[in-house]
Amino acid sequence: MLFKRQLSVLIILAAAAHAVSFHKTTGLEKRIDALLSAMTLEEKAGQLVQYSHPDLRNAEDRIREGRIGSLLNIPADAEKANRLQAVAVKESRLGIPILFGFDVIHGFRTVFPIPLAESCTWDTEMAEQNARIAAREAAACGVRWSFAPMVDVARDPRWGRIAEGAGEDPFLGAAFASARVKGFQGDSLSHPESVAACAKHFVAYGGAEGGRDYNTVDCSELTLRNCYLPPFRAAVDAGAATLMSAFNDLNGVPASANAFTLTTILRQEWGFEGFVVSDWNSIGELIPHGAAALPEEAGLLAIRAGVDMDMEGGVYDRHLAGLVRSGKLDSALVDLAVRRILRVKFALGLFDNPYTDPSLARSILSQSHLNQALESARRSIVLLKNEKDLLPLNKKASIAVVGPLADNRRGMLGSWSGRGSEKETVSVLEGIREKLGNSAAVYAKGCDVRGVSRDGFEEAMRAAGQADVVIAVLGESADMSGEAGSRSDLGLPGVQEDLLKALVETGTPVVLVLVNGRPLALPWAAEHVPAILETWQLGIQHGRAAADVLFGDANPSGKLTASFPRATGQVPIYYNHKNTGRPPRGQFRFGSTYIDCLPTPLFPFGFGLSYTAFAYAGLRLSAETILPSGSIEISAEVTNTGNRSGDEIVQLYMRDPAASVTRPVRELRGFQKIRLQPGETRTVQFTLGPNDLGLYNTRMEWVVEPGEFMVWIGQNSAEGLEGRFKVLE
Ligand code: NOJ
Repeated sequence: MLFKRQLSVLIILAAAAHAVSFHKTTGLEKRIDALLSAMTLEEKAGQLVQYSHPDLRNAEDRIREGRIGSLLNIPADAEKANRLQAVAVKESRLGIPILFGFDVIHGFRTVFPIPLAESCTWDTEMAEQNARIAAREAAACGVRWSFAPMVDVARDPRWGRIAEGAGEDPFLGAAFASARVKGFQGDSLSHPESVAACAKHFVAYGGAEGGRDYNTVDCSELTLRNCYLPPFRAAVDAGAATLMSAFNDLNGVPASANAFTLTTILRQEWGFEGFVVSDWNSIGELIPHGAAALPEEAGLLAIRAGVDMDMEGGVYDRHLAGLVRSGKLDSALVDLAVRRILRVKFALGLFDNPYTDPSLARSILSQSHLNQALESARRSIVLLKNEKDLLPLNKKASIAVVGPLADNRRGMLGSWSGRGSEKETVSVLEGIREKLGNSAAVYAKGCDVRGVSRDGFEEAMRAAGQADVVIAVLGESADMSGEAGSRSDLGLPGVQEDLLKALVETGTPVVLVLVNGRPLALPWAAEHVPAILETWQLGIQHGRAAADVLFGDANPSGKLTASFPRATGQVPIYYNHKNTGRPPRGQFRFGSTYIDCLPTPLFPFGFGLSYTAFAYAGLRLSAETILPSGSIEISAEVTNTGNRSGDEIVQLYMRDPAASVTRPVRELRGFQKIRLQPGETRTVQFTLGPNDLGLYNTRMEWVVEPGEFMVWIGQNSAEGLEGRFKVLE
């Protein structure tokens, strides 16, 4: 019997590995001092104000008066951006440049897979390259600030914004946060093709009760530190120039007025030196939250908590100067916020080089960008089921392509599709016809995404009946996920499941191609449809990538980064849950389960099939015991046992089964993506050290506690080779 002593070793979390790219330097701070001393109170407040360009009246007059520090949603046009910039630089009293921001979430013109899909590649290098391309195209149009990456951990797929992040896991989320920040910001923020990143939404926005967008979050400090904060910390360590404060109430203090998260953690613990922008009117919304009675009170709360810039709310614009004059607000706080914003503007090189060179636009939609988008799209696809190797399909087979998303370009772009256009997007039907020839596939829409009409069923069934195989492209339209895209039912919308049933009834084998922005609950399909391909929303190359995988020109390698439930009632559902005192035990009633549903997911985190197969063997641990400050190597051999080359995402999980605070049943602590030829074996090795083995204790100290640890190397979160070792006192 093993006892864990409450004796633990305090470990200071490893310091930031990557220096911030907007260093404070004495020279820079002096330039800022000089500007600050020349600024009027109104001009200072102006730097803290951001408005959306299309909604703003008299934009140029306000810029000229120095009353705007930043604009969002400017037209995608360098000349227009430069014209606005010229007003700021040449016609305002102090010539402080404007910072143009935009939601560059998964590409600008070259639209990449939605971030949730991209995370299923587990390929952080590729995510970095994609962010770099997005930055290049956005910067070419004057946008030097992207409201991305969205790094909210999301455990509840009812929440539509799960589409915008890297899924349910903080470890993987941190890796993607860091990669995306580096991609946007490049080696130097001052490079004309770099954009400032904005890690959002600080913090715990993904914990919205009931999955309803903007809803309240009540979570312990432990959950905050274990689950929601790590990706933000990674973004800050990677040098993120800005953060966005979230809409949600957090433990009674709305995130946009939360001094504990915005100042104690972000500034004091983490040493963040960039600036914080509010979300869209999230300062004004402190009133309906019940945190403030009047706008000026809301402004006071926000700036005191550490929100430097007011997006769209107009609160700082209308009230900050007055608050200082009336003695309610310390002018030093305004100066501090201005300093942080100017620091980023200097770091971007805007003072020396405020204009965009229109010739940079030549990179937009370039062949290399399109190739990268195609490869990213292929790698994002997750093969969920493939009975009797139905896939890949024979290119000579007669095909019926059915479903409301089959010939739907808009649906492929997903939410927040930047300046992407349907014109440049390839639908699934188009991708298939491009590959097989124009007359190769018969098409029938069958029904609408959300409609109730079954009028198209007959035509679809006729097409299915005459084909060798049916490709049913079903799922969600682009507007069903993303912001304000919460759903209470995670099934296929409208009558799509009935259409699917009708197609299966024809007896022709059906391949279900899912197009969606979140995990769905599809127990009927998982049981009755022989092949299921999760393609998410893959951006402008969606159709080509889907066709490549369907017909075997690419071998799927994606793995889920969010669990798929069996029923909507199971959510929130995530692999790294606690064990409870009564873990489920088969049919035993009094375990933590449901009477009408298994407690496990339909498809677990980390799951995804390939057209080849991989076998795991030979788990090895470099030691049986280690010291709390020590580390251990864990390795296993992975073999491609099939007959084609394939990529495998090898995952390392651990568990601390008895600790001073209870720990999840599994936690991801490493992953490697490897390519193996048929018959090839590779040894994959991971190292676990104090940063991996530790936990936050009840005093919120990161400690490694002695005792036994379990580890797994495997294909997904529900299986793997198991090993054990001990951490000594
Ligand atoms: C509101 C969204 O919550 C946020 O993510 C986005 O960046 C802003 N609007 C600006 O569009």
